[in-house]
Amino acid sequence: MSAPPFTVLEASLEEAAAIRAAVRTADPALIAPTARVAGPQDIQGLVALLSDPLVSGPIYDIPRPIDAGRIGAWIARSERLRQAGEALLTVTLDEAGKVAAYSRFTVWPERSSAEVAGARRADTQNSGKGAEGAARTFGFMFEVLGVRLVGLTAALDNERSARVIEAAGFTPMGERLSALPDGGSRRSLYWEMTREDWLTRRRLFT
Ligand SMILES: CC(C)(COP(=O)(O)OP(=O)(O)OC[C@H]1O[C@@H](n2cnc3c(N)ncnc32)[C@H](O)[C@@H]1OP(=O)(O)O)[C@@H](O)C(=O)NCCC(=O)NCCS
Repeated sequence: MSAPPFTVLEASLEEAAAIRAAVRTADPALIAPTARVAGPQDIQGLVALLSDPLVSGPIYDIPRPIDAGRIGAWIARSERLRQAGEALLTVTLDEAGKVAAYSRFTVWPERSSAEVAGARRADTQNSGKGAEGAARTFGFMFEVLGVRLVGLTAALDNERSARVIEAAGFTPMGERLSALPDGGSRRSLYWEMTREDWLTRRRLFT
């Protein structure tokens, strides 16, 4: 299950309301031109994407086993949470209109904080563009959703993720235990970054 950052920020009522409004209205096309909020039309595409262990293997926070029923329920739950300003599930399409990547943002408006998990289809991994794509995703969180803190996790052996996260300027903060949907847990590497740091180093949109 997604977990908020170790660092605890307190948002004012106004700040939390602004974040909720931003989550409800944010356009994922800012991240990539063919990215959109996932809907029922993406069930098959997400099932195909996530059924590949090269895609979903490193990710702890997706419904398992992966099938149309569970993915459909996840899309519907994510949409309810988007309307509440607390989550956003996006898919990015390839030239053929097939789902080639996804991102799932979890937002804690009262803590001005968020996290994200995501993956690209195996034939588009090792693109050499992981850092660039990740930077647009992080910029979207800090500059468009407007949170002041992002916390990220990755499996201990996920060297590609660690590289793109650290290339963006996140600070390694050791390990944390990530709770799995089945009740178990996974050791994860853990990073945080503040919006102030992001805007100083990497500002993209504002
Ligand atoms: C993580 C992911 C989005 C990165 O995208 P990508 O296109 O594969 O990334 P890149 O090819 O740009 O590689 C990222 C970095 O890792 C480096 N890298 C690649 N393979 C590596 C390895 N085996 N060991 C160490 N570094 C490696 C690359 O050189 C690159 O670093 P650089 O930008 O400094 O050169 C993609 O691999 C993916 O979807 N993986 C499966 C799901 C996943 O792990 N999601 C993240 C969960 S936190």
